[in-house]
Amino acid sequence: MASNKKLLVLPGDGIGPEVMGEVRRVIDWMDKRRHVSFDIGEDLVGGASIDARGIAITEAVVERAKSVDAVLFGSVGGPKWDTLGFANRPELAILTLRKELGLFANLRPATVLEPLVDASTLKPEVVRGLDLMIVRESTGGIYFGEPRGVETLPDGSKRGFNTETYSTMEIERVARVGFDLARKRQNRLCSVEKANVMESGLLWRQVVTALHQREYPDVELSHMYADNCAMQLVRNPRQFDVIVTTNLFGDLLSDLASMLTGSLGMLPSATLGLADESGRRRALYEPIHGSAPDIAGKGIANPLAQMLSFAMLLRYSFDMEDDAAMIEGACTRVLASGLRTADIMAPGCARVSTHVMGEAVVRELDKVSA
Ligand code: IPM
Ligand code: MG
Repeated sequence: MASNKKLLVLPGDGIGPEVMGEVRRVIDWMDKRRHVSFDIGEDLVGGASIDARGIAITEAVVERAKSVDAVLFGSVGGPKWDTLGFANRPELAILTLRKELGLFANLRPATVLEPLVDASTLKPEVVRGLDLMIVRESTGGIYFGEPRGVETLPDGSKRGFNTETYSTMEIERVARVGFDLARKRQNRLCSVEKANVMESGLLWRQVVTALHQREYPDVELSHMYADNCAMQLVRNPRQFDVIVTTNLFGDLLSDLASMLTGSLGMLPSATLGLADESGRRRALYEPIHGSAPDIAGKGIANPLAQMLSFAMLLRYSFDMEDDAAMIEGACTRVLASGLRTADIMAPGCARVSTHVMGEAVVRELDKVSA
């Protein structure tokens, strides 16, 4: 049966293809048991694409990504390609997709699931029940700012430079995503920058403050310097509801926040663009963990972050809240039953492979829909 839900699956490198394989089983399950079918295309990105096509992402793949409802991305990179220059690194695949599809709002939730409360390196009483959302700007700032480069100085030494830049429009559109999310949660938004040191940070603070007064006076807004935010995230992470921040600070703070939850292997993310006239947003979903080349091919990677990314895809791109919650519930129950991949292994639990974890999630799904 023809379906109007178009997905592009881009497994990428390292553990990407392994964990994506388990998600494909969940997608098959949804087709069979929930009669939700997707039109799925798959393509190469990252090192895999460099090897086959000489470039991290071809224009054809970017066009395919533009034509679908949602992109499910794995991970890219690995030591094999580490010596390539900036003009052709596997990471360019994800940066190009963010930029070309206009995916400016990167949503990175950090949620502590009760069965994993002891997996965090922080004390359980500090992280228990944590439910935090970081909204990271993802098409601007120092990642893309011009001028950038390395120049040779008259004395023959070199100077490398990058530019942090944010316009009113870029700040407003990502701040709106933060305010809107806060309204659906605990109604608190913390905006993070370095307004004490950087002009672009001061502008960020002024624009967010003005937008708050104009459009979101009902949301509780606070401002924090990025260094203080890093400290507060470790000291008392539950003080935050939604954080909105720049590309670079968001990169750092979201890695930090992920470890509050115990493992990078657990966290999904969504990257969204502006909605068009029909309300459709371009969107890409990916786990926060990278390609983990050290464990790639061993069948031990945790597939849950990729599965939870698929759940986010159902929620944000297709409004399928029930199905998203069902997958999230199945993942939580598998953990509660004591199954663990190596990254979240705990005393008294059973250590299982990527595949067994995937099977267990499908079995839990069977139970709820039986
Ligand atoms: C991330 C990653 C990327 C980034 C890399 C792979 C380019 O660290 O998604 O956080 O820095 O944005
Ligand atoms: Mg990162």
